[in-house]
Amino acid sequence: MDRIAVIDYGSQYTLLLARRIREMGVFCTVASPEEFKVESEIKGVVLSGGPQSVYEEGALGFPKQLEGFPVPIMGICYGMHLLAKKLGGEVRSGALGEYGLTTVSMDSERFRDIPEEIVTWMSHGDEVTSLPSECKVIARSKNGITAGFSNGRDIAFQFHPEVNHTQFGTNLIEDFVFNVCNASRNWKLSAFAERKVEEIKRAVGNSKVVGGLSGGVDSTVAAVLASKAVGDAFTGIFVNHGLMRKNEDIEVCEALRSLGIKLINVDASEEFFRELKGIDNPEEKRKIIGKTFIKVFEREANRLNASFLLQGTIYSDVIESGAASKNSAKIKSHHNVGGLPDKMNLKLLEPIRELFKDEVRNLGYSLGIEPSLLTRQPFPGPGLGVRIIGEVDSEKARILKEVDSIFMDVLRKSGESEKIWQSFAVLLPVFSVGVKGDKRSYGYVVALRAVNSSEGMTASWHELPYEILREASSRITSGVREVGRVVFDITDKPPATIEWE
Ligand code: XMP
Repeated sequence: MDRIAVIDYGSQYTLLLARRIREMGVFCTVASPEEFKVESEIKGVVLSGGPQSVYEEGALGFPKQLEGFPVPIMGICYGMHLLAKKLGGEVRSGALGEYGLTTVSMDSERFRDIPEEIVTWMSHGDEVTSLPSECKVIARSKNGITAGFSNGRDIAFQFHPEVNHTQFGTNLIEDFVFNVCNASRNWKLSAFAERKVEEIKRAVGNSKVVGGLSGGVDSTVAAVLASKAVGDAFTGIFVNHGLMRKNEDIEVCEALRSLGIKLINVDASEEFFRELKGIDNPEEKRKIIGKTFIKVFEREANRLNASFLLQGTIYSDVIESGAASKNSAKIKSHHNVGGLPDKMNLKLLEPIRELFKDEVRNLGYSLGIEPSLLTRQPFPGPGLGVRIIGEVDSEKARILKEVDSIFMDVLRKSGESEKIWQSFAVLLPVFSVGVKGDKRSYGYVVALRAVNSSEGMTASWHELPYEILREASSRITSGVREVGRVVFDITDKPPATIEWE
């Protein structure tokens, strides 16, 4: 299958670039300059932007693997500087730099379908001060700075064509992918799913496969592919830690079974609460929940005598864990998968590791997975364990489940939940005085949180209308006896995180 390879120099837009290319129907992968491998299916290479200066000591260089590999190269921002240097040009620190929206005039002979002037998104301090021989300026900013050059095959832009703010950016990427690289549009999710089912069948043979299921999109889609491939030789293990939302364990298991997935539902909540007794440090709580999850999962998996472990690893996990590209920001590893394959001597199956989140969701729709599973809010692996501040016990979990379910109901009924990325309640280890029915009361304080985000890396608090806040507060304090006061969290991320612990 034809492929475009993006080499990641650390730009925050690298993944966006790869997605743009896949949206054009062309397979695209991301790798760091060190890990990039030349392969015959690669029809073109994009050098991404990045935070460094090419002339700095220790700056990431032009990939050696590309020497003698005759495919077109597109350089973006830092990638443009690398290409300029490589072809014999010069790059220097500019007097002012260009940041934000910048008007650029385009070579109308080279780009016949694009206006002569476009607004682009710039973010650079360095600039190409001397063009490589055989190269021609194809775009110039209103400040007179070289905003693009080409030698007829390779092409470079100082601005970011992959971001929405750049007018006709997608056309510029398409021009490279189709007119310069001649890549064919053969990246289709349905064909991908068929290929994966065949691959799983072939890899597994007559062996057995297990996988942890949580009701999350990724593990569900991976499980449906595995079930299609090997039927009942795949068993999903749902470890119930007692810290899911109210009734969510039951609903999730029903939905998974209705997809034809063989599933065992292990109620280990007592074991989790026992292990968590007396522990109030957030990191320790997370570790204990993670370890207990592994212990329970291992126990069940051993009984099933499996040789393969199915994981719903997706492309951003691969990139974030540094396996695909070390230069993208490192985020976090999932608590409920780390350590399992090594300890249990299981071979890994990761059928969706090449897919982006939105592709996983689209594949889920095409596999007939219920929208309620595909549109679930992100939910942390340790569940309510990180939403009960301080020591966790079953009684606090019961109280929080009630509060959370009222809050979610208010949001759903008002139609507000569709506008929110993630919302939940937090039980605080604080008691507050109040009056309930003419008597003095002394009850828990709960905090409500609603945020908007795209990937969870940053978030802004959602401006819930006052009447919704009032209704939530009144229904919670009247419906949950133990709660005396409700507050609303108005902190963005950063400085706060989305979860409280
Ligand atoms: P924070 O609190 O770090 O959360 O701003 C960002 C996003 O990640 C979710 N989250 C987790 N997800 N395991 C997960 O699978 C975890 O341990 C975990 N901790 C936080 C959080 O709900 C938010 O969507």
